[in-house]
Amino acid sequence: MQDKLKALRDQILAEISVASDVTALEQVEITCLGRKSQFSQLMKQLGELSAVERREVGQLANDLKQEIQDALKLRRSELLQVEFKALAETDRIDVTIPGLRPETGHLHLTTQAIQDIVDIFSRVGFTRVRHPEVEWDWFAFEALNMPPDHPARDEWETFFIDAPQHSKLGKMVLTPHTTSGSARELKKGQLPIRMMNISKTYRRQIDVSHVPMFHQFEGLLVDRDVSVTHLKGILDHFAREFFGAGRHTRLRPFHFRFTEPSFEVDISCGICSGSGRSEDGSKCRLCKEGWLELGGAGLLHPNVLTAGGIDPEEYSALAFGWGVERTMMMRSGIMVDDIRVLYKSDFRFLNQF
Ligand code: PHE
Repeated sequence: MQDKLKALRDQILAEISVASDVTALEQVEITCLGRKSQFSQLMKQLGELSAVERREVGQLANDLKQEIQDALKLRRSELLQVEFKALAETDRIDVTIPGLRPETGHLHLTTQAIQDIVDIFSRVGFTRVRHPEVEWDWFAFEALNMPPDHPARDEWETFFIDAPQHSKLGKMVLTPHTTSGSARELKKGQLPIRMMNISKTYRRQIDVSHVPMFHQFEGLLVDRDVSVTHLKGILDHFAREFFGAGRHTRLRPFHFRFTEPSFEVDISCGICSGSGRSEDGSKCRLCKEGWLELGGAGLLHPNVLTAGGIDPEEYSALAFGWGVERTMMMRSGIMVDDIRVLYKSDFRFLNQF
């Protein structure tokens, strides 16, 4: 029995020494010392021995078991060291290498401009409102003194939506200008009004200087005795705040069906300060005549106030509406040869702002 035990010990130690990794070693432990192992079988036979023999053999068995367990432990730590070493080669982390900075985004330049515009007008009491982009013909045209089939409508190259008509408000359109929001604001019947409506607008046009979806911002002020003087003051406030000190606006007579009088608004050129001349006397290379065109404005036509349920004898209103993209590009001096680049999601362009 003692010889058997010793032979078994030698065999187990040999297996332990050749186990090539921790898993193999665990397997050796189970098969050599586990319940079904030869070693356990031998232990069960202890009971058949005499008391003296049992003590002797039992002692030997315990010593051998201890010896085997020590060998297992030693081999295990050897194998682990080898494994860790290999891991350190293949899966190394150098905590001293500088980290990778996560990419941070920023607002689109149109959104940045919208925020500036809202900020500038809120300082003179205009509150931002929002109106639908999908609009009824009545708000986009009829309430604005443009009856059905009026040729003035052509200017707005409208997208009509293939949907059932409203019995009173007519066809559904993608709003071609923010003045539809002004018509809606009048209808609310809460006076006085000082609103700033900024929204997406849509027109059937696409080329290097037009995109079918663009943004307009529209100011509307309705109160008693509103005059062109107020309009001029507000526009100059915007010119100074948005484009910089020293810039001012000029009103040029124009025609819109929904305003009377109507104007186109120009801003003094930032390069020649409105003179149209460079220092050497030649024509200004940017504006050629001292002024750059911004957009439309005027005092609301009495028919428009009436359509909105407001008495034109008692109230008057000023309104202006411009394109956000055009205005912001004039400020930053971005000279893009194709405005469509704004909405192409090309990071090479967008990351510059
Ligand atoms: N809605 C006009 C346009 O799209 C601009 C405008 C707004 C003109 C308000 C006068 C008053 O061209």
